[in-house]
Amino acid sequence: MHETVEKKVSPLVVERLTHSDVPAICGLYKKVGDAQGPGLPAELIKAWQPTPLEFTSRMEGITYFAARRDGRMVGAVGCESVRGAVHLVHLGVDPDARRQGVATALVGAAIDWAKRSNAPVVWADALQRFTGAAALLKRLGFADAGLLHKHEWAEDVRLFERVL
Ligand SMILES: CC(C)(COP(=O)(O)OP(=O)(O)OC[C@H]1O[C@@H](n2cnc3c(N)ncnc32)[C@H](O)[C@@H]1OP(=O)(O)O)[C@@H](O)C(=O)NCCC(=O)NCCS
Repeated sequence: MHETVEKKVSPLVVERLTHSDVPAICGLYKKVGDAQGPGLPAELIKAWQPTPLEFTSRMEGITYFAARRDGRMVGAVGCESVRGAVHLVHLGVDPDARRQGVATALVGAAIDWAKRSNAPVVWADALQRFTGAAALLKRLGFADAGLLHKHEWAEDVRLFERVL
């Protein structure tokens, strides 16, 4: 006889990030950076792992959303309004919480924020080698918008856009 073990998944809560969340988000990005595959430029990993001071200054121009489960931060995304368009930045999910809809919920919150800001488009970029990011964005209705060659520390970068 097979016993069915039901795995309970606590609800995901997505909220605007506040200054008191800075240590938690820096811890999250540290984990995301450490989990990136081998062979990435050191500058890129460093950009993924801001110090609390660096992150606090990023918050000046970027609105961040964090996703939590059981009070633990499991993902985050930033929305940067540039000349009326919203650019998604620093989308990262804890490696232990992937493929559970965390990024989907975060990008959903970012799109809602863009719509409330009357932005006509949301765009994102990801290293060409980050195929998971491309699959996620395509799944969420983003279209391919081009490729920038050797754009970030000699890595090719793909662009994606979703017209609202
Ligand atoms: C890319 C990333 C944000 C995805 O986060 P996530 O919470 O695991 O994504 P979701 O669970 O919401 O995925 C939704 C769908 O996107 C697609 N997807 C997500 N990650 C994928 C992967 N690694 N490979 C293939 N498809 C993927 C799948 O269709 C998935 O649905 P499924 O799990 O039912 O198959 C996460 O892997 C990450 O932080 N990567 C490192 C940093 C990065 O690449 N950031 C993105 C910069 S734009």
